[in-house]
Amino acid sequence: MDIQRVLVADAVDAACVDLLTKNNFKVDCKYKQSEEELIKNIQEYDALIVRSDTKVTENIIKAGKHLKIIGRAGAGVDNIDINAATANKILVLNTPGGNAISACELTCSFITSLARNVVPAAASLKAGRWDRKLYAGHELYGKTLAIIGLGRIGKEVAIRMQSWGMKTIGFDPIVSAEEAKTFNVESMNLEQIWPLADYITVHTPLIPQTRNLINDKVFSVCKKGVFVINVARGGIISEKDLLAALKDGRCGGAALDVFQQEPPVDAVTLEIIQHPKVIATPHLGASTSEAQVRVAVEISEQIIALTGKNKQYTET
Ligand code: NAD
Ligand code: MLT
Repeated sequence: MDIQRVLVADAVDAACVDLLTKNNFKVDCKYKQSEEELIKNIQEYDALIVRSDTKVTENIIKAGKHLKIIGRAGAGVDNIDINAATANKILVLNTPGGNAISACELTCSFITSLARNVVPAAASLKAGRWDRKLYAGHELYGKTLAIIGLGRIGKEVAIRMQSWGMKTIGFDPIVSAEEAKTFNVESMNLEQIWPLADYITVHTPLIPQTRNLINDKVFSVCKKGVFVINVARGGIISEKDLLAALKDGRCGGAALDVFQQEPPVDAVTLEIIQHPKVIATPHLGASTSEAQVRVAVEISEQIIALTGKNKQYTET
């Protein structure tokens, strides 16, 4: 495949540009471009590399007269119009797994922080209060963690939270009960899971089958005060139904790294973020130095390998 010019449109780690440049690609970095700017600029490039900020729309893809590759330095490709890319014979690459440990570790931090009210208690002390009663928590030992989606991240979360003494149950349509058992997750259907879970964490892509998977009906059949965590994609937990469940106590707390719209503007999302029982972070699951270097190197190596230029690889 003949690739000469590469446009990096989001802030991917410098390891990406270094590696491509060492392998004789001409690389330009232009961040935070509007759709109109990208439509104009993309015409000069053979490959485009993004994280999640840039939405690679059909209009951008069609404008890419020389475009052959769209590389996503990360797992989810939901910011890329895959159908338009396929129709225009453009290859979409991603780096699944490169940031899985980081997303898993944020999920585990969320679970332990929710159990002990770490975030509101720390904020309260900083604000000059000494409120020991208000922020008493509970142990995770002996509690049940339901993991929806037992892929790369879901599996790693299970393994880590078992060391806290949590019982792990889960559901994934393509991971068999036997496979789940190898990492000590008891596979069940969703209807069996809901009434057993003390904590529910979602690790699926956002697809029609998972949109609003955790909804009003689910909150109504869960244990009162169930905790929910989403480090996957906004929209898997219905924000409207989550807010209602937080208000009436069916949900005891939520930790969210991802939102229906990012950055959030919707009134419901903003109210959730401000809710005292919610921990919210601005899509930081993959934001560690290690994960960012890994995905930057992996996406560059794939492009180099595809063009047959692989003269020089980095040591990782
Ligand atoms: P993965 O592909 O390894 O695992 C996803 C799993 O979800 C698969 O095993 C799949 O079978 C399962 N699944 C699909 N439909 C399902 C359904 N209806 N019910 C239950 N399970 C279902 O992906 P991963 O690397 O583990 O990533 C999981 C999610 O986390 C993705 O949405 C990814 O984009 C997101 N992610 C977010 C961050 C972040 O910064 N917050 C970082 C990395 C990944
Ligand atoms: C991903 O899908 O890899 C994440 O959302 C992280 C990111 O966009 O950097």
